[in-house]
Amino acid sequence: MRDTYGRNINYLRVSVTDRCNLRCVYCMPEEGIKSLKHEDILRFEDTLKIVRAATALGINKIRYTGGEPLVMKDIDKLIYETSKLPGINDIAITTNGILLSDMAGDLKKAGLKRVNISLDTLNSEKYKSITRVGNLDKVMESIDKCLSLGLKPVKINTVLMRGINDVEFENFLNLTRELPVEIRFIELMPIGEGIKIYEKNNLSFMEMLGLHPELTKIGTEKSSTAELYKLTGAKGKIGFISPVSCKFCGDCNKIRLTSTGTIKPCLHSKEEINLRKYLNNEKMLTNAIKSAIESKPLEHHLREESASRSVKGMSQIGG
Ligand code: 5AD
Ligand code: SF4
Repeated sequence: MRDTYGRNINYLRVSVTDRCNLRCVYCMPEEGIKSLKHEDILRFEDTLKIVRAATALGINKIRYTGGEPLVMKDIDKLIYETSKLPGINDIAITTNGILLSDMAGDLKKAGLKRVNISLDTLNSEKYKSITRVGNLDKVMESIDKCLSLGLKPVKINTVLMRGINDVEFENFLNLTRELPVEIRFIELMPIGEGIKIYEKNNLSFMEMLGLHPELTKIGTEKSSTAELYKLTGAKGKIGFISPVSCKFCGDCNKIRLTSTGTIKPCLHSKEEINLRKYLNNEKMLTNAIKSAIESKPLEHHLREESASRSVKGMSQIGG
């Protein structure tokens, strides 16, 4: 459906858990966040009810995120049931890739169409320092597995940070020479843990583009969030996603469901609409989602305020 500003909202991102098996520096504190109680997290049947109710409003694209969606028990069943809902034609996940190589085959069978894998470095030691606990080999295995299974396009999300992984920019570019993946550089956002390092480590992509004239612009992605580039002769593509310096609110087509059962009409707004009380009435549930879409704000204020207005961090909302 159209929101108040004429944007066509057809995309629901669903955070299925706030738990994660990594502790990325810009997302989670080292000690983790106090996990929600089991009963505060939506049951898989309830998530499905909400997704079904949202299809009545024209939502046709679902992305499951976390925390880390693959640590949720029954994620394969959730994907399978989602794929059977009339009106849904795209199911994706955003994952850190640690558990993916073992699960990718089953997830594809369940109806998963494609994956975005978060990967900020190609260096094992640095991977350990950015994620605090992760093993890079697992992620590389997952990328290969997804490519061989034809879970295409495989997109790689790389948060580019000054002084942390900006020296690897060219290594990431070169990866697209060998692999048919889309590397999407994402600007660090001042949200959650990201607020603590934003001033020191944020990096604008204009700077990187200026240094790399070998990148040829090939267009803008359909949902308009990524500006796409390519190296001549490369198998893959490069995308730049600049939510802060070049905000794309005007083309935003999504709303978010948190694992506690609230809709966030905008990632960077503090507003949340609690759907729990409507779970037993599909009509009321659809109406509540409709009014959430109607309340979607025009834009965020990250640049003016240097911090998100969101009360929740990315691990609670979904990256
Ligand atoms: N800034 C930008 N992206 C973030 N993510 C989490 N925290 C931030 C932040 N502060 C995104 C990353 C990661 C996904 C799970 O969440 O892109 O790939
Ligand atoms: Fe986990 Fe993703 Fe946050 Fe890293 S960015 S801690 S992988 S939720």
